[in-house]
Amino acid sequence: MDTMHDVLVVANWKMNPPTIRDARRIWSGTSRGAAVTRGVRVVVCPPYLFLPELAAELKKSGAVALGAQDLSPEEAGAYTGQVSASMLLPYKVTWTILGHSERRALGETDEFVALKVRQAIAKGLSPILCVGERERSDDGAFYTLIRTQLEAVFTLLKRKDIPKLTIAYEPVWAIGKGATEAMSAAQLYEMALYIRKILIERYGRTTTNDIRVLYGGAVKAENARTLVREGGVDGLLVGSASLDPKQLTAIMRAVSVQLKS
Ligand code: PGA
Repeated sequence: MDTMHDVLVVANWKMNPPTIRDARRIWSGTSRGAAVTRGVRVVVCPPYLFLPELAAELKKSGAVALGAQDLSPEEAGAYTGQVSASMLLPYKVTWTILGHSERRALGETDEFVALKVRQAIAKGLSPILCVGERERSDDGAFYTLIRTQLEAVFTLLKRKDIPKLTIAYEPVWAIGKGATEAMSAAQLYEMALYIRKILIERYGRTTTNDIRVLYGGAVKAENARTLVREGGVDGLLVGSASLDPKQLTAIMRAVSVQLKS
């Protein structure tokens, strides 16, 4: 069961792997890894087409949950290429990534992302809201940008829905890079603190206490523990490393509280 003390590890497969066969292999390796790692909650976000088959293998009490990589803000209608929450729910999808920088780069605005977050919550899905700056300048303008990305979502949500948020801070400049190019734990600590400060200022400690703040961008087995422990985050959003179940299991292990024998 997911408790607030579990470290959340979200696997974002992006548009990978190329075949359902590979997807099944990655999925079973990931499930096995999660089953023997205590204190970690794993959410796998495969491409939509793989969901039905992976959902069939999902164990009720298992350590792995399924997530989507995106969601339409609409219920149904003339929205070519989009997928609605109602279409995902039968496939045991309980989470969804929203506002990933690769989607924002295609033109998604803060306001559009906010509509998606509202729709996810309305449909009972847990939204993982991605925020992050493309680059860093010395004047600290990236702090304002993160605030703007968050505020756009706050504007559309009711106060009672705020605790349902998970926030993934992903500096775009670190995404897809090697372990040494990930953000430093010290820089991450400052940003995680800043995000929590924004939450507390607006909604108070009680409402925001259970909101997880995650980090994403070049997370690998070798930097995962430091990022979580010293970066002060509640979990990780993992891209390329999540396609290798051995690597992802090593990440789970690195951040887990304790290992079963
Ligand atoms: P990465 O991707 O782990 O390959 O850097 C992270 C992400 O884009 O969510």
